[in-house]
Amino acid sequence: MTTIQTAAKAPPVRFPRVAQPFVALGLAVLAEIGIAFFVLNVVSVPLIAVWVGIPMLLVFVPCVRWFANCHRTILSGFLGVRIERPYRKPPMPGVLMWLRTTLSDPATWRDIAWLLVNAVIGFTLNLLSAVLFLASLFYLIYPFLVWVTPDGVFDRPFGGLFQLNPVTAFAMVPLGLVAFLIWSASGERLLRANAYLAKSLLGPTESAQLAIRVRELAESRAETVDTQAAELRRIERDLHDGAQARLAALSMNLGMAEEMVARDPKQAAALLTEARESASTALSELRDLVRGIHPPVLADRGLDGAIKALALTCPFKVDVMYDVPGRPPAPVESAAYFAVAEALANAVKYSAATNAWIQITHEDERLHILVGDDGVGGATVTPGGGLYGIQRRLAAFDGTLTVVSPTGGPTTVIMELPCESSSLKITPSSGTA
Ligand SMILES: Nc1ncnc2c1ncn2[C@@H]1O[C@H](COP(=O)(O)OP(=O)(O)O)[C@@H](O)[C@H]1O
Ligand SMILES: [Mg+2]
Repeated sequence: MTTIQTAAKAPPVRFPRVAQPFVALGLAVLAEIGIAFFVLNVVSVPLIAVWVGIPMLLVFVPCVRWFANCHRTILSGFLGVRIERPYRKPPMPGVLMWLRTTLSDPATWRDIAWLLVNAVIGFTLNLLSAVLFLASLFYLIYPFLVWVTPDGVFDRPFGGLFQLNPVTAFAMVPLGLVAFLIWSASGERLLRANAYLAKSLLGPTESAQLAIRVRELAESRAETVDTQAAELRRIERDLHDGAQARLAALSMNLGMAEEMVARDPKQAAALLTEARESASTALSELRDLVRGIHPPVLADRGLDGAIKALALTCPFKVDVMYDVPGRPPAPVESAAYFAVAEALANAVKYSAATNAWIQITHEDERLHILVGDDGVGGATVTPGGGLYGIQRRLAAFDGTLTVVSPTGGPTTVIMELPCESSSLKITPSSGTA
């Protein structure tokens, strides 16, 4: 299954309950491995004075960042929200510039502090959660193994460390139940407590959050400017190669017809026919161009009507579910329309689907758009492609695009756009934009 999302916005993967103890066990082991990273980094810093520290830090700091990033991803799964990466970007390329920025970045030192905290508190919380589950499992299953297997196979666990008869083993079942109850009540809480603790050190501070936001906004602004410039170039090219060329031909034909009308009325009539054809082609090209900028149907009938009109043009059945209380602002409406249009066009072009569905809802101050088809799957976001263009267009609004399209299908394109309830226009007639 391929999941593609705008930069670092994928929702965290939540672990199923039964997998949690094993993840916790893994995290407890990793917490102790983290001690090695802690020591190596702490030792490297004073060694900068004798230069050896520099190559050491160039190796160990990225190791810590990688280690911390893995934990950010895993622990996000317990919190249900992403732990963002708080690192500063060096203003210029170059190894020394990188090292300077990195060493002056509080996030580097917070990572190192976390390694120590994680090795003590994180380790304890994770181990406790895992042991509660594994112990309950052991106490519950073990007596049955003693019971059903021949003597001597399971009645001396741990290499004969304990010697149990079936009666003693069954006496352990209530212990197992108690351990299980404690685990089911508090196992996940212990892991969440560890995740919160980690988030307080691994997540961005308020100022780092602002810096990240500024970076994101600068990137999306640059993309918006690029997209708009490209759009203007496209319109200019379309006008130049299309309508403008046709109108030039039209004017030439009319000029020639004017000259010929007295001398050769038949030829003049043929030229006028040609001129009329040029005029109607120019007109339809202009209409297409306008539709590509802001489709009249969107202005007239709103997103609901425009999407339903779009669905009707598909060669297969498209179910539309639209549940938005009012009309979103025009730029959001237009971005949503073009996003759905692209996803549907892809379904028509590539998917060989027999059914498609569109759902547009408004929840949590966001417009949720889902376009699915039961086709062959395998959709990817590739730079320069239509989906990539939509992803960039939505990013300008802080929106996201996710494609879930395993080979063999189905394909689901999920898009989200911020859209505050207060900006929704409640219009009784949809005639006004
Ligand atoms: N609904 C779909 N079903 C199957 N394949 C798809 C679907 N949508 C997109 N694809 C695949 O993903 C690629 C990228 O799509 P897109 O970004 O829209 O590019 P393009 O500009 O070629 O349409 C397409 O070339 C196609 O192979
Ligand atoms: Mg496409």
